[in-house]
Amino acid sequence: MDDKTHAPNPDNFRWDNDGTADVLPGTATRPTAGEPLASVIDRAISRRALLKGSAVAGATLVIAPSALLAPSPAVAAPRHRDPGSRLTFETVPPGNEPDIVVPPGYSVDILLRWGDPLTPAAPEFDVDQQSPAAQAQQFGFNADLVLWYPLPRLVARSVGIRGRLGAIANRSLGLLYPRLATQTSRHALVVVNHEYTSGVDMFPGYDSAAPTAEQVRIEIEAHGFSIVELRLGDDGRWRFERGSPFNRRSTGSTPIEIAGPLRGHALMRTSADPDGVEVLGSLNNCAGGKTPWGTILTCEENFDQYFANFAAVTGASRAVSERIPAPDGASERRWEDVVERFDLAKEPNEYNRFGYVVEVDPYDPGTPAKKRTALGRFKHEGAAARIARDGRVAIYSGDDARFEYVYKFVSAGTYDRFDRAANLDLLDRGTLYVARFDVGDVAGDDMGDGVWLELSPDNPVLADWTLEEILLDTRGAADRVGATPMDRPEDVEVSPQTGKVYIALTNNSRRTEPDEANPRIANEHGHIIELVEDDPADLTFRWNILVKCGDPTVAEHDTRFGDIPDPVAAGISPIADPDNLVHDDDGNLWIATDGQYFSGSVGFGQNDGIFAVPVEGTDRGRLRQFLSGVPGGEVCGPEFSGDNKTFFCAIQHPNDGEAFAKLWPTDETRVSKPSLIAVRRNDGRKIGR
Ligand code: FEO
Ligand code: CA
Ligand code: CA
Repeated sequence: MDDKTHAPNPDNFRWDNDGTADVLPGTATRPTAGEPLASVIDRAISRRALLKGSAVAGATLVIAPSALLAPSPAVAAPRHRDPGSRLTFETVPPGNEPDIVVPPGYSVDILLRWGDPLTPAAPEFDVDQQSPAAQAQQFGFNADLVLWYPLPRLVARSVGIRGRLGAIANRSLGLLYPRLATQTSRHALVVVNHEYTSGVDMFPGYDSAAPTAEQVRIEIEAHGFSIVELRLGDDGRWRFERGSPFNRRSTGSTPIEIAGPLRGHALMRTSADPDGVEVLGSLNNCAGGKTPWGTILTCEENFDQYFANFAAVTGASRAVSERIPAPDGASERRWEDVVERFDLAKEPNEYNRFGYVVEVDPYDPGTPAKKRTALGRFKHEGAAARIARDGRVAIYSGDDARFEYVYKFVSAGTYDRFDRAANLDLLDRGTLYVARFDVGDVAGDDMGDGVWLELSPDNPVLADWTLEEILLDTRGAADRVGATPMDRPEDVEVSPQTGKVYIALTNNSRRTEPDEANPRIANEHGHIIELVEDDPADLTFRWNILVKCGDPTVAEHDTRFGDIPDPVAAGISPIADPDNLVHDDDGNLWIATDGQYFSGSVGFGQNDGIFAVPVEGTDRGRLRQFLSGVPGGEVCGPEFSGDNKTFFCAIQHPNDGEAFAKLWPTDETRVSKPSLIAVRRNDGRKIGR
């Protein structure tokens, strides 16, 4: 969900996800205007030389997925000398067609739509006869994150017999998962987040001023996430397996464990849960990521919008949320009128139980999801994992609001491929850090270095904070240590080939003071930063701006695409508002956008889409469009099957605000439906090349 409207009428946008309360002063200006041309050229040369150096450093220090099976981290050899040059798909032109457009030679399959029954007993969807009980067994609304997991036969057998994952199957899965995750698998589990709901696009005759109790309860059940089994047919198409024992919904009312340092804490206790150990639901699940042991990390983002009457909250419970407040009075959704716990005047601590990374094991339908409080509380967009040389696990995460921060958690314990059961609680103990992006040797060259600042009472700056206060008021602690306010950190992804970390900064129209890592005033189209560490447990890093988005044919957009000297001649596509990210198995970065139609003061007038960009080799920065989405709909959750022969993504809020007037998928007759789609090549080869 973005801060811009997705529909032609800006009044249709109801959920302002980051108001002025999020705004902090920017960092200091470093003017570059009026600089002599010679120094600009010097900077460019120094940038190229340094980037070359950092690329080499990154490439020699990487853990590839297959290397996780080795007794010690191995060096990942590039699979292709110049992988970017293998991206040979025909560029999709920008457009606003009513249906999805992919390159010639590719096909689109719609796998699951809002309301599709996920179990044999679930009722068929009927937009005129919706109920909370039906929605709780059907595919939820507004699909976002998509993650693909191989499903080994022994795991399917174990769950088929017992209803849950047995110890032997769990151990075997721990050994097999890293290898299977990059191979062809005919059975797979896929998780899809359901970020938020829009009553106007769900219910005929919806009155946003007075939603009915039934509508509120249906919307609560349409949140959360779905885990489903897919099967690959001989025709190369994935199909949903309705009878699978792995299919399940987690909704806005499903019990979820509170895990980590905040479990049982006084500020986590409510009248319904006096021990502070279990919360109903996860909300606003946006992006996320995979752990090396094959679990899902699904992230709670704009959770503030579900709660009301923050003005009535006092004392410690108020103090920890001053930097991430809920509405002072009524919420726009009015859930508080139907479900008491959303009224903070009645249940002030309920608010403290949202805003976390949630871990869930797709392979074990018998285990609950867990909120991993050690990773802090903020508007978590995504989560990406990388294993350090010593086996500790780093999780990178961004806080998507204007002038918010980029974080890294490093586990205290170490990953053990022989003991998957032990890995399952690895994220409950460790240290959280926040990023400060520094200028480096030269100012204004779109690159620099940086420091991970520790967010714990061991940091003298936070000596008067408890760990629990830091984890509840993570933004406040990050302010105190001097982190760098960024231009809305969306998804963060780690390249499985090089270990480099990519951060999508989607836009920030309110920036008035540029800094080295956020160099554009009123950053309308966003940028992507590449962060390089020698080891993910390191406390320093180097960084550079890979892409400054915009239309390369418009000089005022001040674009950058790697170090491509003439982006127009190179056939680079216009792009704005980078959001969700994924890598293919050559290491190329694939980008989903959110908000291109209305991007900036003028807007691109083009549907959101998918773009692929090489990040190594001579074509580094040669970004081209692969898919064009649907009017009013953002494209989310880019993901590949293990063999890279299928590309998955989600179409969120198609025909936003006009879902009953304009229809997508195009064979629908009553209402547009957020959906999971798969893209495959007609010749069955790998996507993109
Ligand atoms: Fe839910 Fe920041 O996108
Ligand atoms: Ca610099
Ligand atoms: Ca997003």
